[in-house]
Order: sequence, then C-alpha cells, then structure tokens
Amino acid sequence: MVRPALRALCGARVHARQRPMWPAVLSLTVDMDDTPARVHVPLQDPNQQYLLQCFKDLQQSSRRPLIALDFGCGDGDLVGEARRAGFEFFGAEAYYGRSEYEAESLARTDPDAAPCILRIGKDGRVPVVDCYFDFVCSNQVFEHLRDLRSVVGELARITRPDGVHVHVVPTLEQWVDGHTGVWFVHKIPRGNLRRLLAAAFHRLRWVNFWKPDVSFEAWWSVFDTFLADDTFYRSWGDIRWSLTQFFTIRHRGPEKFAWMLQRTPSRRRSNSWRAIRWLWRLVPEPIAWRLLLHRSGVTVELRARTH
Ligand SMILES: C[S@@+](CC[C@H](N)C(=O)[O-])C[C@H]1O[C@@H](n2cnc3c(N)ncnc32)[C@H](O)[C@@H]1O
Repeated sequence: MVRPALRALCGARVHARQRPMWPAVLSLTVDMDDTPARVHVPLQDPNQQYLLQCFKDLQQSSRRPLIALDFGCGDGDLVGEARRAGFEFFGAEAYYGRSEYEAESLARTDPDAAPCILRIGKDGRVPVVDCYFDFVCSNQVFEHLRDLRSVVGELARITRPDGVHVHVVPTLEQWVDGHTGVWFVHKIPRGNLRRLLAAAFHRLRWVNFWKPDVSFEAWWSVFDTFLADDTFYRSWGDIRWSLTQFFTIRHRGPEKFAWMLQRTPSRRRSNSWRAIRWLWRLVPEPIAWRLLLHRSGVTVELRARTH
C-alpha cells in the first residue's frame, strides 16, 4: 500500500521514451525522444484528461455549443482530442518566444489541432476579439510566463463574462521540479549547489528524460538553461494576487486528485488502491489542498469578478 501511495503523491516518472513536453527548445530532448512521427494516440496526460472532462461537464450543462481555448497548448494533444470529439476547441501558443521551438513543436503537432492553434503575438495578445471564449484552460503553463499579471489580464479580456477557467499551475511550493524530476532543484539559485543536486539525482537515474547514452553534462546543459531562462516558479501567494485582480478562485485540486484515483487503470485496482481512494475521502480539505500544493501545485477554477 505504501508504494502506490508514494507513486500517487510523487507522480509518475517521465521516461525518455515519452514525448518531451517541455524543453524541446533544444534538440537534445528531441534526440531523446524515440517516438515515431505523429500518430493519433488517446490523450495520456491525466491533467489534460481532467481539463477535457471539466469542459465536457460545462458543455453538458449549457444549451449552446461552447468555444474553448487551451492556453499554451504545446503539441495540441488536448485540442486534437477535443476536436475529434466534435468540440469547438482552440489552442494558443507563444512557443517560449523562440522560433526554433516553434518549428520543432509544429512538426510534432497533432494534425487535427494544427489549424486551430492561435499564434500569440509578441505583445502577448491572443488574436481574437474580446469575450470570445466560454472556457479557457491551461496545463503547466503559468510557470513559463515572465509577466503573469499581464497574461491574466489578456485571459480575462478574451473570456465571456460568464466564462469558466480551469488551470493546472505548478508553484514554488512543490517539492519536485516537474521538468527535471529533481527534488528541490527549482528552489536553489542557479550555480554549483543546484548542479550538484541534479548530478546526484542523475547518478541515481531518478530524473526525467534519463537515457543511458546521454551524459549528465549533456542532460544538464539542457535543463540548466531551461530552468534559468524559461521557467519562473512563483509562490501560490504571488499567483493568487495576479489572479484575484480579474477573477474569483475556487480550488479544484482535491477533487481532481479524487477523480484521478477513481480512474486508476484496472490493473492497479488492487485492494491497496481501493484503500487509498477510501482514505483520501477522509482527508480534510485544507490538508488535502496543502499536500497537493507540495506535490504538484494547484488546480484552480476561475470566474470573472463582478464589480
Ligand atoms: C510545460 S509545456 C505544457 C504544454 C501543454 N499545455 C501540455 O499540457 O502538454 C508549457 C507550454 O507553455 C508554452 N508557453 C511558454 N510561454 C508562453 C506564453 N508566454 N504564452 C503562452 N504559452 C507559453 C510553451 O510553448 C509550452 O508549450
């Protein structure tokens, strides 16, 4: 029972064979990716599955077809899946403001999503008129935004007054950096100590994108730069401040976690998993919220403020 619990709390390891989600900016991670040319695979990321479910629930309770946006949609997996299901779903991307990442990402982009990905301008504008979307979501994007407050303002502009947002937001409080898989690396300033910690985890092979033929130096040169130049972890307090300028917040993390436990694949439907699901229901909401804050950040639902 302890092992599945640890796995649930620490999150699954990202293996080198998995599609690289984050720092494809540099070709090293692309070399690490053994996946053949783009094929349709069912949506695999549990966060993305949850976001799609949130949209479906909202659509079901609405009398008209809703228009949705996956902000920072990456390769467009969620957008493609949603469009194949018949939903009016769009993506928006800024590609870290780097043309080389844009080219790499577009080459991997889901063909059903590609025509529906809006290019965010250098000024941060999403090219749609005000109040366009009924639903806006994002998965692990906020920690890559240099100026969070202005992006939140732009998200408020493009959302209808009765629109709903759901965002999965990594925070500084997390124990594990989701990009490298190294514990506490994002809390240490760039330099020798950070490098030493990363080297120790790499030695133990307890990192994301580990491959036998990729040395620590090569692996770290990618992530060291990525963490320094493209990743801006903020505390939940800072993020909340930016969000509350435009939105009211409801936490959905504990509910999301319960939903994920419920959907555990049948091969894991052992007694221990059943026990974990049962125990989770007994955890008081504030404790559940805090545990999840340290595990993976927050999942928030936002609605426009009525002034
Ligand atoms: C960790 S990836 C997540 C991608 C996707 N949401 C997913 O779940 O696979 C972060 C994404 O944020 C995008 N991004 C970076 N800066 C951005 C910005 N200023 N505006 C919008 N998206 C941005 C990156 O291009 C990248 O696709």
